[in-house]
Amino acid sequence: MNPLSLIKQSAGTLLIELATRPMQPQRRQLLTHAHGNVLDVGIGSGSSLSLYPDTVTHVAGLEPEPTNWLLNRRAKKVADNFSYETTTASAHEIPFEDQAFDTVTFQLTLCTIPDPARALAEARRVLKPDGTLLFLEHLRHTDPKVAATQDKVAPLWQKIAGGCRLNQATTEIIEAAGFKYNWREAVIDKQPPRILSHITWGAATKSG
Ligand SMILES: C[S@@+](CC[C@H](N)C(=O)[O-])C[C@H]1O[C@@H](n2cnc3c(N)ncnc32)[C@H](O)[C@@H]1O
Repeated sequence: MNPLSLIKQSAGTLLIELATRPMQPQRRQLLTHAHGNVLDVGIGSGSSLSLYPDTVTHVAGLEPEPTNWLLNRRAKKVADNFSYETTTASAHEIPFEDQAFDTVTFQLTLCTIPDPARALAEARRVLKPDGTLLFLEHLRHTDPKVAATQDKVAPLWQKIAGGCRLNQATTEIIEAAGFKYNWREAVIDKQPPRILSHITWGAATKSG
């Protein structure tokens, strides 16, 4: 990687680490539900890796970007707990066989993947029939004033935050992709920044 790309990647990593740190408690709770062979879509710098429980045997991290140095470091640390490998590919075309995974996770990625419906269709394909989809996402705010601010800020945010759509109604997209919720929690954090304060996390299985 050339020095300019490395600086850009490191700055992006730092921004995402800072913006997503407040959601670590929800991520921690969510990942206690992961088991078996896990696909972590858009694993980024690997903030999830230290949180997978003993019930996980293997994690495949999917990432379209060239491998992140922080992800490599975190992957080495968990090597005693489960096997890990990064696959460089887009969620639009997941390079794994049908029904290969017990768990597929999207953590703060459905907001960034250009076509989330397509990514979810792929997730559905690679999940076992009784497999679990785990998600943690920020949402369009329920307060119309905050939602209006999100709409205003969204174009700039998308440019500086790697394509993230701040104002997306992601829970509707998950259901429309053929999943039903087993459980879902949501919180509206009173702390700033309010544009990132409506968060949801939960588990879903294939419907129908
Ligand atoms: C906000 S970051 C979240 C990273 C990580 N999941 C976390 O929670 O820290 C969004 C991630 O989605 C990834 N992403 C963007 N487009 C993608 C695509 N088409 N397929 C898979 N991942 C994608 C980005 O490279 C980035 O790592």
